[in-house]
Amino acid sequence: MKKSVTVRVPATSANCGPGFDSLGLALTLYNEFTFTIFDNKFGFFLDVEGEGKDSFHPSGRNMAFASFLAVWNKITNRQRIGIHVKMKNQVPKSRGLGSSSTAIVAGVTAASILSGANLSHDEILQEANKLEGHPDNVAPAIYGGFTISFQENGVAHTLRTIPKMPLQFVAVVPDMQLSTHLAREAIPKEISHSDAVFNASRTALLTAALLEDRPELLQYALEDKLHQPYRAKLIPGLPEVFAAGEAAGAYKCIISGSGSTLLAYASPEKDGDVIGRAMVDAFAQCGQKSVYHILQLDTEGTKIWETE
Ligand code: HSE
Repeated sequence: MKKSVTVRVPATSANCGPGFDSLGLALTLYNEFTFTIFDNKFGFFLDVEGEGKDSFHPSGRNMAFASFLAVWNKITNRQRIGIHVKMKNQVPKSRGLGSSSTAIVAGVTAASILSGANLSHDEILQEANKLEGHPDNVAPAIYGGFTISFQENGVAHTLRTIPKMPLQFVAVVPDMQLSTHLAREAIPKEISHSDAVFNASRTALLTAALLEDRPELLQYALEDKLHQPYRAKLIPGLPEVFAAGEAAGAYKCIISGSGSTLLAYASPEKDGDVIGRAMVDAFAQCGQKSVYHILQLDTEGTKIWETE
């Protein structure tokens, strides 16, 4: 039986503007998890380096352990073990970059390998989606690239593709955390028919623009009326930061996932530092500290780094 496995999972940016709960992409920022299991000592053991270092606790409520056990218990009929997880985190927590999806996908993948179940990508997607609830985050974390996802009767479906359009992404991460729960509560339960038409047209346009390499369409294709207007009030400075990013050369800025990170889509020929600094300065003028990361599309998805 394998005793230890290291799994690296990319950050994700869900929604991609208009594709609420459907579109997502993977980014070149990673959380790495090493799972080691013991049959002679029991309980949860955790070491964390990097982002959120002091905010994780070794328990069955931690998503890495919970997702591992969800699969492990099913496959092994609850074989009793101890689990040690070592996390090396680059993905900021509760900032709309899929940090909890990295833990869920890592736990499911590690349990699949260490239990010998060797689940397929689709089976990992189904398990991870049950735990996360939104396939737009877990699908790109598993497959990499750009994903179009939906769920029907509890089953997640995803189409994964690589856009022809070359892009760089500047992720501006404020100090402020934002819970997905709170950010979802800000959205009304009902929307107007005209807003639905607005988003349907933008989502379709965005997908085609990315695949056909039509960057001049992004200024329209990344617009949204389903969630961003309502979430904007939860992120002080958002209009100023968007304007600064676009004035500094980005095609368009959006809220990454449910926020609080703001993400600029830009041509790789633009200077990402200029865009990042302009957005960080704009946040600062609104009293908000932030940092920026210049990122690319991750095309590899979850990687099994080493096993023993
Ligand atoms: N689509 C989700 C949302 C992503 O925007 O709430 C966060 O899990």
